Amino acid sequence: MSSFQYDFGMIGLGVMGSNLLLNMADSGFAVAGYDIDKNKCAALDASASPKKIVKGFFDLNEMIASLRLPRKVMMLVPAGKPVDDVLSRIVPLLAAGDIVIDGGNSHYVDTLRRVNAMQELGIHFMGIGISGGEEGARSGPSIMPGGDLKAYEAVKPVLEAVAAKVNGKPCVAYLGMGAAGHYVKMVHNGIEYGIMQLISETYWLLKKGAQLPNDQLHETFKKWNEGSMESFLLEITANIFTQIDDLAGGLLLDVISDMAGSKGTGKWTSQDAMDIAVPIPNIDIAVAIRNLSAYKNERADAALLYQSGSFKAINSENFIEQSRDALHFATIICYAQGLALLHKASEELHMEIPVSEVIRVWRGGCIIRAAFLDDLAEAFQKNSNLSNILLDASIAEKVRSLEKSIRSLVAEAALSGLPVPGHMAALSYFDAYRSEHLPTNLIQAQRDYFGAHTYQRTDMTGSFHTEWKQTKP
Ligand code: 6PG
Repeated sequence: MSSFQYDFGMIGLGVMGSNLLLNMADSGFAVAGYDIDKNKCAALDASASPKKIVKGFFDLNEMIASLRLPRKVMMLVPAGKPVDDVLSRIVPLLAAGDIVIDGGNSHYVDTLRRVNAMQELGIHFMGIGISGGEEGARSGPSIMPGGDLKAYEAVKPVLEAVAAKVNGKPCVAYLGMGAAGHYVKMVHNGIEYGIMQLISETYWLLKKGAQLPNDQLHETFKKWNEGSMESFLLEITANIFTQIDDLAGGLLLDVISDMAGSKGTGKWTSQDAMDIAVPIPNIDIAVAIRNLSAYKNERADAALLYQSGSFKAINSENFIEQSRDALHFATIICYAQGLALLHKASEELHMEIPVSEVIRVWRGGCIIRAAFLDDLAEAFQKNSNLSNILLDASIAEKVRSLEKSIRSLVAEAALSGLPVPGHMAALSYFDAYRSEHLPTNLIQAQRDYFGAHTYQRTDMTGSFHTEWKQTKP
């Protein structure tokens, strides 16, 4: 058995786990890894940078025993049962005071359950969201920790060392109590779904409507990514339009199936938002369209039935600029919905999430990093308890300047038969949110009519019920 004491242990040496561990080693920490697959353990040692202290263990007991006390162990394994399986294997090997981190995309409800179960054993359990994909894990991810504050303080030096840096500051901060880290990551992913849906709609409008060839699609997205819309998702989108297919030649994108997969974090965001009654229609529609994309055969039958294979070309002047501004508008609405969810969830679930810190952590390393987060940071500097970013005067000014474009674009798309559900959802949310009066008084009347559910009046306090049928002529 090794007598050397390692600073940090990782269980699960998939690309994310081993890259993050190698990143820690590059920052000067002595790290140990374990995976059920022995090849991955061997590969870890081989991929370490020269003179860095990295060791892959074939035996879990040995790996845990090699860690300095209190032990700091991270699991990067698939969400769900694998996390519980690993926990039940390591708990007998740990001691009170040790820190166990779940760095995967676990559902926050599971995290909360595990935090409580581990607390009874004296083990500090933390759920940490990590974003940035394989590349981010190696060179600097955005890290969203929550849970036990003392445990956070103990792992902070490692997390700060490996996190992405923006203006010299690490993209990591303590983001709240209990399962806050995984809650924030879930909402991050929900926003990610919403924005990806919007970009895909824009691609289709430009390709099928404005009939831009692939090289112009590349140029257009690249140009958009240079200004105030600069974002990681636009950057990779521009690059996708240059990727040639190794197998058959031509643009790879053109031979990729349109059935989009998902691992569930977007769905959880929608489900949880429904539970606490926060409207996030852009995330809902993004999940729904991924689901609809799987109905390939039915869509093919419907396309025949409704003869919708070819779209009316859009030749209007300024259509490209309009698409850019409409995308910008709808992207802001996506962030508005996601952050409104965080605001309410923080209160409802007693997580005390510092939303301004979340925005700082999302500024670098993660999938939804974007220049717009600087505007958000300013808004939260003015009001750290902002319930919806659309209420900030500077954001409102920006949104107003883009509003005309999204109205024209949605109208053009509707007339051409091109699907833009994300853009429509953003505009409808905006129009409903800025309406002091909604037609929901009629819904109240209907509910009372058929179900005696009562209603409130605008001119008197209290609950009222009317015998509606008696008032019929
Ligand atoms: C990230 C990503 C990452 C991942 C998810 C999304 O922040 O690095 O969000 O967590 O891409 O697994 O996956 P799905 O689209 O498969 O749900």
